[in-house]
Amino acid sequence: MRVLVTGGAGYIGSVVTAELLEAGHQVTVLDDLSTGHADAVPAGADFVQASITEADPVLAAGRFDAVVHFAAKSLVPESMTAPQLYWQNNTVGSLALLESMRRHDVRRIVFSSTAATYGEPDTVPILESSPTRPTNPYGASKLAVDHLLTSYARAHRFSAVSLRYFNVAGARITPQGSLGERHATETHLIPIALQVAAGQREQLLVNGVHYPTADGSCVRDYIHVLDLADAHLRALELASREPAGDGGGGGSHLICNLGSGSGSSVREVIESVRRITGRPTPAVDAPNRPGDPAVLIASNDKAAAVLGWRPTRDLDQMVSDAWDFFQQLRPELTDPRGDGDV
Ligand code: UFG
Repeated sequence: MRVLVTGGAGYIGSVVTAELLEAGHQVTVLDDLSTGHADAVPAGADFVQASITEADPVLAAGRFDAVVHFAAKSLVPESMTAPQLYWQNNTVGSLALLESMRRHDVRRIVFSSTAATYGEPDTVPILESSPTRPTNPYGASKLAVDHLLTSYARAHRFSAVSLRYFNVAGARITPQGSLGERHATETHLIPIALQVAAGQREQLLVNGVHYPTADGSCVRDYIHVLDLADAHLRALELASREPAGDGGGGGSHLICNLGSGSGSSVREVIESVRRITGRPTPAVDAPNRPGDPAVLIASNDKAAAVLGWRPTRDLDQMVSDAWDFFQQLRPELTDPRGDGDV
């Protein structure tokens, strides 16, 4: 297939691009490099530096079969203080992209949605039919796109799949080059814990230790980025089998959670980091982070039933791959001799 990947210079987008290429697809990456890295665009993909609001000429020229849409702002705390960036980039930007797709008759799309669309759940595991009550503009701006896709499927015969990610971690490690998380502003638990393990930060703050969970810390559902990528390839295949466009009958919009179906607490993640890195990784109890639900766990039954998808990599594998990637990025911090020669 000829696939346009928006946000393909980012963490998840670059890994999915590499896996699409490996599966034999032709890929063009569209990324404005506002948070992505040009050197993360896998060799073999064409690259256009532009935002999703400038996709029109690319779609006009490319004869694409489908779009995989990652480009977005994705920092929850930033979305609380600068919501306009999230509505503009994530929602208005996606609407512009969908209009360009419609104009050029590219009607298949896999969209990077999020567990943040659900907000604080009444019960876990979270089903796709659970209420969507996002607690921040990031989740709301993504939920709006899910609604856009439902209406474009109905009215304009799009074949769309929204994948709602839970906590993505890990890296794609290959001898030809590795891809992983390297955000300018790091807020996620596993990369922060690895920075502590490497001595780049003094200690990890355990945000909340009196939650109603087994050890008092928050429980999240971690999913390896390679398992996530596998789901995207399956979603793309499914979208390509569904009828879309004028000749194709009705459209469709599938929404699927992507999680492991089980949870790990913050303390369990820290234990895994200590086990894998062999470093002490000091952690201290700290107050709750405002807005953090106690437990977020996905039901992945629908992804299994509809996509035939099952995650295969556990938390230790995620931490181990993320640590390998960190060591490649920062050898001077992780080399035991401290001379950067690994
Ligand atoms: N945490 C710490 N210390 C840290 C960083 C995180 O204790 O230094 C805790 C958090 O409080 C939370 C857990 O580790 O309990 C996981 O936090 P992350 O920031 O790694 O991930 P979140 O669960 O907050 O965020 C994830 C996705 C977001 C999505 C959100 C929905 O990464 O994209 O779920 O709630 F929006």
